[in-house]
Amino acid sequence: MSMNVAIDGPAGAGKSTIAKNVAAEMKYIYVDTGAMYRSLALYFIRQGIDKDDEAKISEACKDCDVTIGYEDGKQQVILNGENVTGLIRTEEVGNMASASSVYKDVRAKLLNLQRKLAKENDVIMDGRDIGTCILPDAQAKIFLTASVDTRADRRYKELIEKGESPDLEKIKKDIEERDYRDSHRENAPLKQADDAVLVDSSDMSIEEVTNAIIDIIKSKM
Ligand code: DC
Repeated sequence: MSMNVAIDGPAGAGKSTIAKNVAAEMKYIYVDTGAMYRSLALYFIRQGIDKDDEAKISEACKDCDVTIGYEDGKQQVILNGENVTGLIRTEEVGNMASASSVYKDVRAKLLNLQRKLAKENDVIMDGRDIGTCILPDAQAKIFLTASVDTRADRRYKELIEKGESPDLEKIKKDIEERDYRDSHRENAPLKQADDAVLVDSSDMSIEEVTNAIIDIIKSKM
């Protein structure tokens, strides 16, 4: 049976950085489910669909084929044959992903793909509903969080490093809005699974969090 590790938590808690480190160390495949929602979001944006138009979004899902592959161990998301990995990291796509992922047809579209990957491989899968909904039987579940201030500071520094001139207060507001929407939606909201271990990364280094999570996984093997 494959080893499945679920890592859920709000935007900016460090899930992807940590999950990539853990995957490399444990020789698991890292599955970034947010990237799948982002690729659908890119499609909706390109089609000019409004984020509140559930009927059009549901209809558009039927025209989307999302698959993932790996290049040098890095996940690539393929949308209708096009590798969109480099196009989905913008705030616009992130906001559309958060808004459109509330709809059940959007979630249903990705559920089987995520479960199949976990059935066939040892995975560490990050998202919002992995421990609660996608992989309820995962051997290890982690809920990784950090304070809004810490997450906003991290994002601010990332953008400064990219040469942008971000507004810290706006970043904080976006994070709060996204947290609220992700955790209050009706379908598969962001929530700590009863059997998940809570890790608060606010005052921890990347290395400390990685080691803490590897210890949790090993204790469940
Ligand atoms: O992790 P991320 O920021 O790339 O995710 C973008 C959005 O996708 C997030 O705000 C909510 C949605 N998402 C989801 O609903 N369920 C997941 N398993 C992963 C992401």
